[in-house]
Amino acid sequence: MAVKNDVMTALTAVADPAGGGTVVETGRAAGVVVKDDGTVGLVLAVDGLDKTTAERLQATVEAAVKRVPGVSVARIILTADRAATPTAAPKASTVPGIRKLVAVASGKGGVGKSTVAANLAFALARAGQTVGLLDADIYGPSVPTLLGIEGRARVENDKLQPEVRHGIKALSMGMMTDPNKAIVWRGPMASSALVQMVEQCDWGALDVLVIDLPPGTGDVQLTLAQKLKPDGALIVSTPQDLALIDARRAVAMFGEVNVRVLGVVENMAGYCCPNCGHVSDPFGHGGAEKEAEAMGVPFLGRIPLQMAVRTASETAQPVSGEPAAIFDEIARGVIVTVGL
Ligand SMILES: Nc1ncnc2c1ncn2[C@@H]1O[C@H](COP(=O)(O)OP(=O)(O)OP(=O)(O)O)[C@@H](O)[C@H]1O
Ligand SMILES: [Mg+2]
Repeated sequence: MAVKNDVMTALTAVADPAGGGTVVETGRAAGVVVKDDGTVGLVLAVDGLDKTTAERLQATVEAAVKRVPGVSVARIILTADRAATPTAAPKASTVPGIRKLVAVASGKGGVGKSTVAANLAFALARAGQTVGLLDADIYGPSVPTLLGIEGRARVENDKLQPEVRHGIKALSMGMMTDPNKAIVWRGPMASSALVQMVEQCDWGALDVLVIDLPPGTGDVQLTLAQKLKPDGALIVSTPQDLALIDARRAVAMFGEVNVRVLGVVENMAGYCCPNCGHVSDPFGHGGAEKEAEAMGVPFLGRIPLQMAVRTASETAQPVSGEPAAIFDEIARGVIVTVGL
């Protein structure tokens, strides 16, 4: 925290080249994140600046941050936001037509984020909400499989058309690209593409857009959190220590960018053998609940490790039975906390 304060102080010595005060006052520099190893990340909006001025500003900010004791690496993420004017504060918090944005995140990959995001979206729709699902995982989009969507997104009147499945509207990076080609994108490009997907999609009026984030706490997550300003984030973790360490990082990241953590969902807890009925805990049990308590964030629910959860996903169906009831409960929690 001390390093972060020092970084903020260093930034207040850098004037906005477009006038209006320092880069902190005008909102050009924001979202400072300091990692344990001394890496500092921040977002620098370069709207309204020509290329040379933007590059000079980037170099000045980088040098100012690097001079702060305790900083090993400075990562400056440049963004150009169409809506902002040179001296404007950061852009408005909502996307027109979408009442609430809820992000589903995890520190670690493969813990069931996409499964949780899709089934949370289904549960919210069952509760009577008009729901959209954005698959923001550019490197491994899962929503086309989870929802049985094939082919590219249609474009009508210059707007991307989401696909409707099980009562929700879905758009995925997998609907933009060839599934057999590797996507090699640098963070800033990927982040701005995602923001465009949210803003330029024909969602219609939505009560809530659920965003399935890629794993981790990198540029994409940071920029999305900053630019789209979700109303809340749900953190998915397995009960094992390794996943929990990363879940803690994810909670810290959202804290840094002032996104409210709605709570933690424990996934893959308790495996019931379909042959003998014995319940075992391959990834432990209750770890995420304890961790949520330790971090002071709500615990939203525990989803068992079940063959049926995986097969539902693979056959593009919502989960049913006990896991569906758990998702209904989690959805109720989300509805109350974000005010849907
Ligand atoms: N509770 C569960 N029981 C059984 N299988 C599960 C459960 N949750 C998720 N899975 C399976 O685990 C795999 C990983 O899940 P998923 O793709 O949702 O994870 P993810 O966190 O989104 O992964 P990534 O980090 O790659 O985006 C999938 O095959 C999914 O069907
Ligand atoms: Mg995923």
